Amino acid sequence: MATVLDDIQTRETRHILQTYRRAPITFVRGEGVRLYDSNGREYLDLLSGIGVASLGHAHPRLARAIADQAATLLHTSNLFYHPLQGELAERLANLSGLPRAFFCNSGTEAVEACLKFARRYWYTKGEPRSEFIALEESFHGRTFGSLSVTSDEHYRLPFAPLLPNVKFVPVNEPAALAAAVSRQTAAIIAEPVQGEGGIRPLTPAFAQAIADACAKTGALFIADEVQSGLGRTGYPFFFAALGLKPHLVSVGKALGSGVPVGAALVSQQVADTISFGDHGSTYGGNLLACRAALCFLDELVGGGVLAHVGRVGVHFEHRLKTLAATRPIVKHIRGRGLMWGLELDRDAAPVVPAALERGVVVNRTAETVIRLLPPLIISESEIDESLDRLAAALDAVGGRS
Ligand SMILES: Cc1ncc(COP(=O)(O)O)c(C=O)c1O
Repeated sequence: MATVLDDIQTRETRHILQTYRRAPITFVRGEGVRLYDSNGREYLDLLSGIGVASLGHAHPRLARAIADQAATLLHTSNLFYHPLQGELAERLANLSGLPRAFFCNSGTEAVEACLKFARRYWYTKGEPRSEFIALEESFHGRTFGSLSVTSDEHYRLPFAPLLPNVKFVPVNEPAALAAAVSRQTAAIIAEPVQGEGGIRPLTPAFAQAIADACAKTGALFIADEVQSGLGRTGYPFFFAALGLKPHLVSVGKALGSGVPVGAALVSQQVADTISFGDHGSTYGGNLLACRAALCFLDELVGGGVLAHVGRVGVHFEHRLKTLAATRPIVKHIRGRGLMWGLELDRDAAPVVPAALERGVVVNRTAETVIRLLPPLIISESEIDESLDRLAAALDAVGGRS
């Protein structure tokens, strides 16, 4: 007899463009940190839909806010005012120190907007600069601009030619950055903690090199906080932990806690060079997206989620260190707060199904890294339970010392 999964797979194989290799699981329901599949099996979610379900699944206040907004007004376009967009922009300004926001619907659109605003800045100043400096191991999204500053050849090659004048420098090598940035550079773009690249925080020395290069050449700095921002590391934004003051910041993922919303946060210096009509989005910052994002920020700041990440992040790190110390397959761990990577001594791919078999959802990135991005509301006991399951999966794949 065909299962629910068989039916879904058959239809998808026929009609979905085959760009994703999916695990053979159909999730149908969630609650907090737990997901349930079509057979009623429970999983602990250490991935939150790649850093998106920041408040966990079926969060009661978020669910009520979304339902209420749907029953009131969902969308009117950016041709008119509505009551929520300005409020959301103000709250993001208070959190980031960047006074203005442009709303869009995804991380890649947020990056795209930052790249365009950087070009516009130099155009308005009457000394156009087109060059972008990006980092090796970077990931900024799949649209043409974002892809152009993403380093992985595997993503880039089939779509060449991309934007010209993009130079890549090795991450955390201050001298290489200093040598690459010049008065031709429109902007440096970097993830304060590289996500897809294997969870690599920038070092303070490299952050200083970014600040120095910008001061010396006038180049703008774009911090891509799509994955690392909004509480994930225990800080509102990791650029602040590094002492950086970006001119542009991209956010997405956690902001809507599952409702698609992104934003480019913009300094006044850059905002002063932007004119009506320079950029736009039909959906960007509609009532549904803003309502969800406001609910998320309520929980993050007023609801204590940010402080919670700070607390449980220490426990997570401690548990991961113990796990790594007793498993030779784990070479080292990197990360902050609730954003961690376990660098393995081999391809990490087999760990993912082994973890799913044991009821825990994780992801592989950068070939050898197990990436952990649990919902920000995860408790210490849920951390313990899920890392016990992950440890069993690592033992199954790599043995134990
Ligand atoms: C740092 C970073 N920037 C941009 C993106 C692109 O976001 P999206 O997939 O929402 O377009 C991602 C997605 O993983 C990301 O991690």
